[in-house]
Formats: sequence, structure tokens, C-alpha cells
Amino acid sequence: MKSEQEPKSLSQKRFGQFAENYVTSQSHAKGYDLDQMVKIANPQADWLVLDVATGGGHTALKFAPVVKKVIATDITPEMLAAAQKFVQSQGAANVIFEPADAQNLPFEDTLFDLVTCRIAPHHFPDCVRFIQQGSRVLKFGGLLLVQDHLLPEDQTAAHFIDDFERLRDSSHNQAFSKSQWIQMFEQAGLQVIHTEEIIKRHQLFPWAERQGCSPETILVLTKMLKDAPASATKWLQVENLGTGEASFVNHHILIAGSK
Ligand SMILES: C[S@@+](CC[C@H](N)C(=O)[O-])C[C@H]1O[C@@H](n2cnc3c(N)ncnc32)[C@H](O)[C@@H]1O
Repeated sequence: MKSEQEPKSLSQKRFGQFAENYVTSQSHAKGYDLDQMVKIANPQADWLVLDVATGGGHTALKFAPVVKKVIATDITPEMLAAAQKFVQSQGAANVIFEPADAQNLPFEDTLFDLVTCRIAPHHFPDCVRFIQQGSRVLKFGGLLLVQDHLLPEDQTAAHFIDDFERLRDSSHNQAFSKSQWIQMFEQAGLQVIHTEEIIKRHQLFPWAERQGCSPETILVLTKMLKDAPASATKWLQVENLGTGEASFVNHHILIAGSK
């Protein structure tokens, strides 16, 4: 069994090394999901927002112009420094940066109008605890808005996909199915007001190379897809396997819960 420290250290090491890449990554900088997050939250000019695991700062930057203040937090110091430099270069003066572990948010209860967390909980050793912390720091009536990997309900496929993602990126800890997400929100006292699925096709080779996978690892990833359980192949919609054009889709969830 993994210790709680292990995935946290892996995240810090990995994101510390690739911090600038996340600032410039177009898939993090833009996307339907960012616009949709703003639409769902309907942010107000007097709002105080917490962005958890801010990465390159793109979610914080998206909300900054339409709220009073954003506190952008991350566990990786190099990531925070890169995000701060980037967000400030974009002229956003109302974003402040603080180190924080998502599972131990260093803020008082009922402080924020909105808590956001995008493409990060699958790195956390204890996502249940993060959702509870997110709920704790929200005002009554506030919103927790999360966008992250989504797994199928089928356990065989879900385990396979977690293993596949982890081989590509060792800081991937665990992703969840829709029913697990809803359960985590409800158990934290949040009423789920929105869920939607976002599907994106990836070319296997560039997807693996972006995380620094060696040719040997890409070979193993290819073999995994070849031998995948039928339920996983169906979820991943694998195409052109065995060619340079091999591709698959991954699924993300956008979930919002009101306190
Ligand atoms: C893919 S990036 C996040 C992208 C970003 N939210 C965005 O919208 O572009 C994942 C981030 O999670 C952070 N992270 C990983 N584990 C964490 C933890 N336990 N607490 C806080 N941040 C964590 C990493 O340092 C990294 O910056």
C-alpha cells in the first residue's frame, strides 16, 4: 500500500520539474471546460475564490477579471512561482499565491464563495479529504467546482485505465467514476447541481511523449491497449492501434456542488 507521502512527493517532483510546461500548455490554458466553469459558477464581482492545485494558474486567471479576489494555491513551490509570474504578466492584480496541500487547506471555515479545482484531484492521495476540505472552507450557498478525470463504473475497466494513466505519469494516483464523485460531494454536505462529461481524443504517441515516456514505456502502453479488457477498450474508443496514428479518448467530469 502507498503511503500518503508518496504520491504527494511524486507530484511535487514531477510538477516542479515541468512547471513552465504547464504554464505554456495549450490544453491547460484554453478549453471548453474553462468557459463552462465560469458559466456554471455565474461569478459575482464581490466574490472571494479559492483555486486549489492551480498548476499554471489558468483557472485562477479565468476567474480573476470577474471576481474580487482569487487565492491560487498549490503544493509545488516551483509551480506556484511559475503561475505567479505568468498570471501577473497577464495583468491580473487580484490573484494571490499561497502554498497549500489540497487535503489540508490552511483557511478558516466558510470563507469562500467559490472553490475551484481543475485537472488535479487524480494526483491527490486522499480525494475524499480534499472534497471535505473544499466544502469546509465554502460559505453556505457557495459552490465547489471540480473538473477531473472520469472513470467508468465498471471496476475492471476503471482499474485498467488508472494503471494505464499511472504508467504514463507516475504522479497519477487515482481517478473516480461519476457515482463515486457524486458520493464524495454528497458525503461532504454538498448538493450536486451540475455534472457533465467531456471527452477528448488523444494520439497515443504525442500524449505519452508529453510526459517524457521512453520508447520502451510507449511500447508497454501500446501492448496494454492491445490486451485491454473489452470494457476498457469500449470506454477508451481505441483506434488505429499498431500504427503511428494510434489514438484513444479520455473522459473528464465537470461537477458542481452547492453547500
Ligand atoms: C495539471 S496541474 C493543474 C492544472 C490547473 N489547475 C489548471 O487549471 O490548468 C496539477 C497540479 O496539482 C498540484 N498538486 C498535486 N498534488 C497536490 C496536493 N496534494 N495539493 C495541492 N496541489 C497538488 C501539482 O503541483 C500541479 O500543479
